[in-house]
Amino acid sequence: ESTRLWGGRFASGPSSELTELSRSTHFDWRLAPYDLAGSRAHARVLHRAGLLSDADLEAMLAAIDQLAADVRSGEFLPEPDDEDVHTALERGLLERAGAELGGRLRAGRSRNDQVATLFRAYLRDHGRQIAQLVRELALAITSQAEHHLGVPMPGRTHLQHAQPVLLSHHLLAHAWPLVRDLDRLEQWDARVAAESPYGSGALAGSSLGLDPEAIAADLGFTGSTPNSIDGTAARDFVAEFAFVTAQIGIDVSRLAEEIIIWNTKEFGFVTLHDGYSTGSSIMPQKKNPDIAELARGKSGRLVGNLAGLLTTLKALPLAYNRDLQEDKEPVFDSIDTLEVLLPAFTGMVATLTFDTARLAELAPQGFALATDIAEWLVRQGVPFREAHEISGACVQVCEQRGIELWDLTDEDFAQISPHLSPAVREVLSVEGSLASRDARGGTAPARVHDQLKEIRARLH
Ligand code: ARG
Repeated sequence: ESTRLWGGRFASGPSSELTELSRSTHFDWRLAPYDLAGSRAHARVLHRAGLLSDADLEAMLAAIDQLAADVRSGEFLPEPDDEDVHTALERGLLERAGAELGGRLRAGRSRNDQVATLFRAYLRDHGRQIAQLVRELALAITSQAEHHLGVPMPGRTHLQHAQPVLLSHHLLAHAWPLVRDLDRLEQWDARVAAESPYGSGALAGSSLGLDPEAIAADLGFTGSTPNSIDGTAARDFVAEFAFVTAQIGIDVSRLAEEIIIWNTKEFGFVTLHDGYSTGSSIMPQKKNPDIAELARGKSGRLVGNLAGLLTTLKALPLAYNRDLQEDKEPVFDSIDTLEVLLPAFTGMVATLTFDTARLAELAPQGFALATDIAEWLVRQGVPFREAHEISGACVQVCEQRGIELWDLTDEDFAQISPHLSPAVREVLSVEGSLASRDARGGTAPARVHDQLKEIRARLH
């Protein structure tokens, strides 16, 4: 027997096509534990308002607990006729508490304020889970940075050799965005997700003397929403969550892309652990960076979920419209995606091995010390504009002869510019170049050491 929540004014039941279209239990069933928590809190608030006797409250909570146990064990499941998670759970409650008592729980609440509240509760929990996974990835990157302190590598702009940097410095540049994502999750929670719309009713607020602040506190929210229309209609808390998950995907994809490049034969910077790479069905020699490629690919999907959600919300009139049921699948998908992706990605990063000799050898190549020559000249009093020209001339000579900057002789230097005394050689080493970038945020070993301490402190 169907337990539609809205049968009274209808002469006939819904068509089968409507039921097919309307049903959301295949995706919103995961909200069941949150709906049940909301029902417990609602029963207590009804009791406080004098709408449930002491005995009624006790029987109601016992029935909800029984239902929760049956949901957990899988004994209670949605039926094809249940429109959504709320409908299914009401049926379950009526079966356990009886129609007389069970029928009292719905007073003063609407699925509109229920879903707006429990979706927040669900996202808050998963926000914390994702934050933990992001923290673990940031820590894996940080440990690699710590382990390789002192190893130089070619720093790049435009994917061309630019200046030598420490491998640790480069790795930490992938960890800091994740630290900011952690901040975003925390701030999102405090700003938009911590207010409960419970008590907003369908849109106009509740009339039965129920206290929204009490129910908010009961459910672990910091307070209740100040406007019942906004409480039921707003989904910016979903959109912002979708943005943060997309940004996490983007941040991970940038490291993923570098690992894919570093893992090519031509680069040869890293080797992947066998447990975190895949083979080919036809080419026996292959060892592929599939985790990094999946991370790169799935970042597109996370962006798509955000774009789809925002498009649903665009120009949607207040208050609740059924369009809003489309708010769940995109973020559920983003959550599921990150909760599977991040542990695999973290494992891959934690087990990466770096060819440190190759990185160090390549660090100064491609005339990556040309800037150091220019800056040495500036310290000798040469205007930077001229220093840039002189250093560029050194590069030109080297390129013509197929040699590196440190192969230039004292005579070569003198011929290029009288400012270039043999003392310029002191900056023609990777160590000297690195050590000179000694201001906060620079790649000097001492500064990177400080940075490691700073990020460790932020990740605790
Ligand atoms: N399942 C709906 C949703 O997820 C909530 C139900 C509200 N339905 C309604 N007819 N007012 O948004």
